[in-house]
Amino acid sequence: MIYLDNAATSFPKPDKVYEEVLRCMKEYCANPGRGGHYMSIESGKAVMEAREAICSFFNIRNPMQLSFTKNATEALNVAIKGLLKAGDHVITTTMEHNSVVRPLKTLEKELGIELTFIQGNEYGEVDIADIQRAVKENTRLIAATASSNVNGIIMPFRKIGEIAKAKGIVFLLDAAQGAGAITIDVEEDHIDMMAFPGHKSLLGPQGTGALYVRENVILKELMQGGTGSNSENVFQPEIMPDMLESGTLNTPGIVGMGAGVGFINSFGLENIKLYKAMLVKKLHDGITEIGGMKLYSKNDINHNSGIVAMNVDGIDSTEISYVLDKVYGIATRAGLHCAPMAHAALGTMKTGVVRFSIGCFNTVQEIDLVLNALKEIVLKTQNN
Ligand code: ALA
Repeated sequence: MIYLDNAATSFPKPDKVYEEVLRCMKEYCANPGRGGHYMSIESGKAVMEAREAICSFFNIRNPMQLSFTKNATEALNVAIKGLLKAGDHVITTTMEHNSVVRPLKTLEKELGIELTFIQGNEYGEVDIADIQRAVKENTRLIAATASSNVNGIIMPFRKIGEIAKAKGIVFLLDAAQGAGAITIDVEEDHIDMMAFPGHKSLLGPQGTGALYVRENVILKELMQGGTGSNSENVFQPEIMPDMLESGTLNTPGIVGMGAGVGFINSFGLENIKLYKAMLVKKLHDGITEIGGMKLYSKNDINHNSGIVAMNVDGIDSTEISYVLDKVYGIATRAGLHCAPMAHAALGTMKTGVVRFSIGCFNTVQEIDLVLNALKEIVLKTQNN
């Protein structure tokens, strides 16, 4: 199979990720932070090493400000629901995934928070002046995606961070597609909270994710339970990361996530970005040359995290994706990608889009095979 669904979850993973997950499970996987015996300490050390490696990757200075979650969705819920109170105003964009939109809409209904959705250009990219203009007295949070899961458009998040910082507003970055795909530095980008998964471009296993919370951002935890710390206290500890990490951690997953980051570092994120950008460009150029298709993604490394979003004229995206899978063995995602407002913004609410999401293990030969398949499909369509 030619796997081009890396925005949903990356596949394959680096060998080092498989090896470290297995080694953890076979050799030392006791409960981290819950015992004084050798294996528990080894597990605790492995979690700490992964925490430090992941933090260093994003220039998070204090690793204790990173809490592990089961995915980006959980991290986003903790950030949004842990921060907002009745009467707060939130600025966000129409390119957000439902993991941002749904918690916000739920709080709008239940708490009466106020929402402003900033509409972007034809690719969904927001104008920073529109964000600036939307700021009000009661704006508590700006929540924006680093890059869209529908078409890969990269948001001007450093500039958004600058506005948030200048106005004393909390800035939450949804890095579900960005983490491991584009350069993110929580200091340079003025990020106060960042939610990200381990299983997409960070190349770790599913069931992993994390939330970074800057020291001065006070959250209320959504879940209480055992943390292995302050056990004499019947109330939840208020220190990070324990406050947000109740229950046994996913130690093998976290170790795998750390190994994924190690793999990226061994090649260099810049090199991976350039390689993926070359494949994205090849696919874009090929589609334009064949004709009979519409593109919704930008052909530019500075504006695309690795997605080619397209449709074949006159055919539903699900049909194309089905044929690509069944006839050509090419894995894509079609339809609506859990981001209804993004599809409305791109004008693809009725058709959805066929999404090719490129990973660092894809090859030039695979892109050639995809282009041949698309050529045949378009020719058949035009002859019918
Ligand atoms: N959010 C993931 C995607 O875009 C699952 O496919």
